[in-house]
Amino acid sequence: MNILAFESSCDETAAAVVRDGRQVLSDAIASQADMHAIYGGVVPEIASRKHVEVIAALTDQALAQAGISKPDIDAVAVTYGPGLIGALLVGVNFAKSVAYALGKPLIPVHHLRGHIAANYIAFPSLEPPFLALCVSGGNSMLVDVRGYTDMSILGATRDDAAGECFDKIARVLGLPYPGGRPMQELARGGDDTKYPLPRAKIAGNDLDMSFSGLKTATVNLIHNAQQKGESLDRSSLAASVEAAVSGELAPRAMLAAERCGHHTVVAAGGVAANERIRSDLERACRERGLRLFLPPLKLCGDNGAMIGCQAYYEYLAGARADSSLNAYATLEI
Ligand code: KG4
Repeated sequence: MNILAFESSCDETAAAVVRDGRQVLSDAIASQADMHAIYGGVVPEIASRKHVEVIAALTDQALAQAGISKPDIDAVAVTYGPGLIGALLVGVNFAKSVAYALGKPLIPVHHLRGHIAANYIAFPSLEPPFLALCVSGGNSMLVDVRGYTDMSILGATRDDAAGECFDKIARVLGLPYPGGRPMQELARGGDDTKYPLPRAKIAGNDLDMSFSGLKTATVNLIHNAQQKGESLDRSSLAASVEAAVSGELAPRAMLAAERCGHHTVVAAGGVAANERIRSDLERACRERGLRLFLPPLKLCGDNGAMIGCQAYYEYLAGARADSSLNAYATLEI
């Protein structure tokens, strides 16, 4: 079964063709990151406009790369939330039109389910159940994945996402957007104990997280140093931030896996590309005898292949949308 999948929830426009859920025939991506870099973050209106500009050409590219023509498409899939509403609407409306024109079923896909599914592409043997740590620019959550389409949130950030924390601190440090990767480069060789940064204390669900206090404390630390004319050890500060973020994520992922009785842990999302987080997860899983799956870097960020992959399992479970499909800025997993 060939699924033509679209993703436009943030600043990447993506179109891909995926066969039977796991075989990626093409994965065309147009990133807008350079466009938003001068503003230090994604400008939603610009994102929507750029999606409109490229989505048709990207579809042709995805079909050509896959070596198939329109009649070979069996279904159309699209991310319908969560994300930037204007950006999502471009993909949803385009996918609706394509499905209607081809007379094929339309499959709605949750963006984070897609991020988790990126691992099915990379690891053919991976099957649920497992514990997923989803960390991106807009979300940070622990998900109990009982089946391909049966999952629930165990804990999530109560404020900023881990990626948002990296991006905003990076901006104040004068690093380019998106800031996660440049922060990682800056942190190389730094002393991660040099700057003791605050850890959030969460009342209630101990699997919930919080990153806004860490973000604000770090930004204040930088501004204070600048105002007093003190020099900062930027590399050690970046390393300390990475350690603080990872210190929230890895232990909670272990706790969540233990509580659910899962022996497998899967990471997903753009922040899962972070070397410190990857190595902390590796160590923690090794100590507990858990299997760990870390997506290859090119599948951590937003892409269409992950949507096409998850769409196959949604299709098998009976998910279908019609022309009334809407986009949602927030959406339960
Ligand atoms: O999953 P993604 O591409 O988009 C969303 O759906 O949000 O994630 C983007 C986020 C950005 O915040 C970016 O700074 C972060 O992933 N990121 C990283 C790294 N690479 C990307 N954060 C930390 N370390 C990295 N190496």
